[in-house]
Amino acid sequence: MAERPPVDRLTEAEAWAELADLARILARANIAYHTGDAPEMSDAEYDRLKARNARIEARFPGLKRADSPSEQVGGPVAEGFAKVRHRVRMLSLANAFDESDVTEFAARIRRYLGLDADAPLAFTAEPKIDGLSLSLRYENGTLVRAATRGDGQTGEDVTANARTIGDIPQRLKGGAPDVLEVRGEVYMSHQDFAALNAVQTEAGARTFANPRNAAAGSLRQLDAEITRSRPLKFLAYAWGELSAPLAETQSGALNRLAALGFRTNPLARLCANTTEMLAHYRHIEDKRATLGYDLDGVVYKVDDLGLQDRLGVRSTTPRWAIAHKFPAELAWTRLDAIDIQVGRTGALSPVARLRPVTVGGVVVSNATLHNEDYIAGRDSTGAEIRAGRDIRIGDRVQVYRAGDVIPKVKDVDLSARPGDATPFGFPRTCPECGSEAVREEGDAVRRCTGGLGCPAQAVEKLKHFVSRAAFDIEGLGAKQIEAFHADEHLRVREPADIFTLEARDATNPVKLKDRDGWGEKSAQNLFRAIEDRRRIPLARLIFALGIRHVGESASRLLAAHYGSWRAFSDAMTGARIGQGEPWQQMIAIDGVGEVMAASLVTAFGQDAERALIDRLIGFLEVEDAEPVTVADSPVAGKTVVFTGTLQGMTRAEAKARAEALGAKVSGSVSARTDLLVAGPGAGSKATKAEALGVTVVDENGWLALIGAE
Ligand code: IVH
Repeated sequence: MAERPPVDRLTEAEAWAELADLARILARANIAYHTGDAPEMSDAEYDRLKARNARIEARFPGLKRADSPSEQVGGPVAEGFAKVRHRVRMLSLANAFDESDVTEFAARIRRYLGLDADAPLAFTAEPKIDGLSLSLRYENGTLVRAATRGDGQTGEDVTANARTIGDIPQRLKGGAPDVLEVRGEVYMSHQDFAALNAVQTEAGARTFANPRNAAAGSLRQLDAEITRSRPLKFLAYAWGELSAPLAETQSGALNRLAALGFRTNPLARLCANTTEMLAHYRHIEDKRATLGYDLDGVVYKVDDLGLQDRLGVRSTTPRWAIAHKFPAELAWTRLDAIDIQVGRTGALSPVARLRPVTVGGVVVSNATLHNEDYIAGRDSTGAEIRAGRDIRIGDRVQVYRAGDVIPKVKDVDLSARPGDATPFGFPRTCPECGSEAVREEGDAVRRCTGGLGCPAQAVEKLKHFVSRAAFDIEGLGAKQIEAFHADEHLRVREPADIFTLEARDATNPVKLKDRDGWGEKSAQNLFRAIEDRRRIPLARLIFALGIRHVGESASRLLAAHYGSWRAFSDAMTGARIGQGEPWQQMIAIDGVGEVMAASLVTAFGQDAERALIDRLIGFLEVEDAEPVTVADSPVAGKTVVFTGTLQGMTRAEAKARAEALGAKVSGSVSARTDLLVAGPGAGSKATKAEALGVTVVDENGWLALIGAE
């Protein structure tokens, strides 16, 4: 966005035009932030524009618009959930960006209350978690309603979803007020966020931009069973309607909430003055990078609830609290080099080697540059990014750390470009093995064609082979694989070598137990762990092979479909891409597409790859997978949709059971649907099914059909 002129130089006409512009931009950003899953604008940019809007309004009060962004909290509620009107409005917080904003906040409160500069005035300083706020209504100690903030007045009823979150008590411990609305933040830890995105990627589903969006997307699921499967957390820090006060102070109320069974943030502190508040802010900022969840600042609240009452609220924010924001996690540094890493499937990934720089409390010296188009200033469709600016070695680049840990290079400062900088020539050969690196039509990534002959691919493949969801051999992780691969004597070059390790070690001049970091016991344990894994379930084996596009859940589908290693490998060997019965059978498996199928057929068709697989299989006893199709079930092969509330089982359970009987469970009704199972509250799906002439049964009808009454 173009630089905006200083506010004190704006003419009235310019101010009027800009307020209109800001109202439009901020309203759009608000909707994207609160109702969508993909933010359009960084929080820092949003705050900057909102602050500018407020400054223009302060200078030209007469120009303040009816739809002024200063008067708005959050976005409109999304369709799909029942609406809940909050009895006590859910407020937002005013922001402080530096220390002088904080001292001014405290001074303003003293003025408002008529307190002398030396009169005691305590504040709590609490971490501001970057999640989404939730209001939980308890009546007589029992959770009766959970609602999102929405626009502050009206939110969405997410009671069923909230009940699936472990941190949210269904019943309070003794002594709760008859009516108690507890407010707090729903969020996701960095670790859980990364794991969720890995699962999403593998399922071919959309990944989340950051933990906040993952938490919002997970809470706002129309199917509460999806929420249950997501690792959401909740911390309490405020309240709405109350039939009796919780305490006399904010700090006392936090203790009371903890005693009632809520988690509260252990980093909340009671501070006697602004010096202590700012010291605690710095303390939290220092710890921020190691907390494992996203914080975007520190909230200061007047501790005395009587004073809070006197201070009251402005249109959308209380006078007694402020959010002291952390600076955006951005930094400029020099790009010293671009290294190319070669992954398991041969993908060449550019990594920026940076002059070390602190980004949000973490020293960053490496960052991803995504792929060759990104470096050149294009996206995957060829459209310009960064206004077409390319990135060169020696450039001053901007690095950012989003919620998801891996730092990224965001922008480049052309004014600081060294005179001799040249456009980065993305390698056409693999830097590890020298094989040609090719980019296939429609693929954003260039890949090494060296296959198993490429040492980098071999090591990555081995790491994948021993990973958690594959062979999961205790004592054999990425570090050991690298060491064993490089070692002249241990020579673990392919999966089969793992199973000959013990025998080969016995003849080595220096035994594993005598090596650095190893001993008699650890070596024995490793050999035993390897031995134990000679018996392996089919699905794990298929996943462990590390064939491109074949993830964990696809491996399970393939295993369930083929049942045995023999049937699976015969089918892969017998199939021809795009033709014949084995191919048709494979792509008919729900969840296996043509791209994955082609990748499997290609892998089994390559002599070297095939020989490696055969060598491995020689050491294994592969456990057959449970067959899925029950041929005589009346629902085998039928497409079934569940809708409405089921009484006797959860939706997830109903789905699992139907699938075990060979039915295909779909989320939406179409002409291909065979049966709709409709519980109470079934809506548009039932109507559509009737219109399409699809058979509709209730839960009992379904149970009778599958013989499970
Ligand atoms: S107090 C009356 N305390 O920040 C003020 N909010 O920008 C109600 N937040 O909507 C909020 N941590 O989602 C409060 N310790 C904390 C918080 C916190 C995170 C969020 C909350 C609120 C937003 C305001």
